[in-house]
Amino acid sequence: MITHKQFDNGFRYIEIENNHAKAKIALQGAHLFHYKVKDKSSLLWLSKAAYFEEGKAIRGGIPVCFPWFGKNKDNPALPQHGFARTQLWSVILEEEKDDGTTHIRLQLKPNTHTLAQWDYLFDVNLDITIGQVLSIALSVTNTDTKPFEISTALHTYFSVSDIDTVSIKGLDGRVYYNALDEKNHIQKGDIFIHEEVDRVYYDPSERITLLDGDAKVKLHQEGSNSLVVWNPWIEKSKQMNDMTEDGYRSMVCIETSNAREDSRVLKPNESHVLKAIMQRV
Ligand code: BG6
Repeated sequence: MITHKQFDNGFRYIEIENNHAKAKIALQGAHLFHYKVKDKSSLLWLSKAAYFEEGKAIRGGIPVCFPWFGKNKDNPALPQHGFARTQLWSVILEEEKDDGTTHIRLQLKPNTHTLAQWDYLFDVNLDITIGQVLSIALSVTNTDTKPFEISTALHTYFSVSDIDTVSIKGLDGRVYYNALDEKNHIQKGDIFIHEEVDRVYYDPSERITLLDGDAKVKLHQEGSNSLVVWNPWIEKSKQMNDMTEDGYRSMVCIETSNAREDSRVLKPNESHVLKAIMQRV
């Protein structure tokens, strides 16, 4: 079943319930903020202090970062992670499939607000499939007459039982850029998180595993050669109004991306698809 709903303040979202799972997608940002397979715990983390308000990004779920990831290189005064996560998207396809999965396609088109920040014409779709497995694909086409560069992310907040018990496999030996000292390093072994972590890993293996005690999440990415790992830890969380004091203990972001050196240049009529497929196993 697909139901269009809204909060008391008019903030709109779609609720999906099928034989496999339940999910919620805000029209602002095409932002999946809830996904739970029946008989399993929620895959995605959502801050207890998240805003569901026009113009504010939701802290949790899967924010879509486009057309730039992080700070805008040319104008750092522009909003971090681009405008896609605070723009209203249109739902252009709702499909309940024979295999019991639900497919939703949302679209973002250029408008006066996007053109004021980024003077390019584009066609952007986000395809979300809700089943035993969650699949999310960001397709970008350059509909302008000049090339443009994009850096993007499916900024996925995974829910974990306790950050102390978490490890991430699939990045051993990879070069990563550490945003905290602004230097490149090489990962040795699995990732453990016992402090603030803000890194872009290059050339990740296609399959990443998040271990959380006995629980396991598998993440597979396509069209991506970079992966962001982020946890704000204690001090940074205090500076964020939409994080509770201990929120950082129950989340880790592992973001399928085209970040930094993995940014993509699209010529007119060229397209690029960034895709993440994930599930609790
Ligand atoms: C991560 C970045 O992807 O997103 C961090 O690497 C940033 O530097 C974090 O702090 C959260 O960003 P925001 O804009 O949602 O607070």
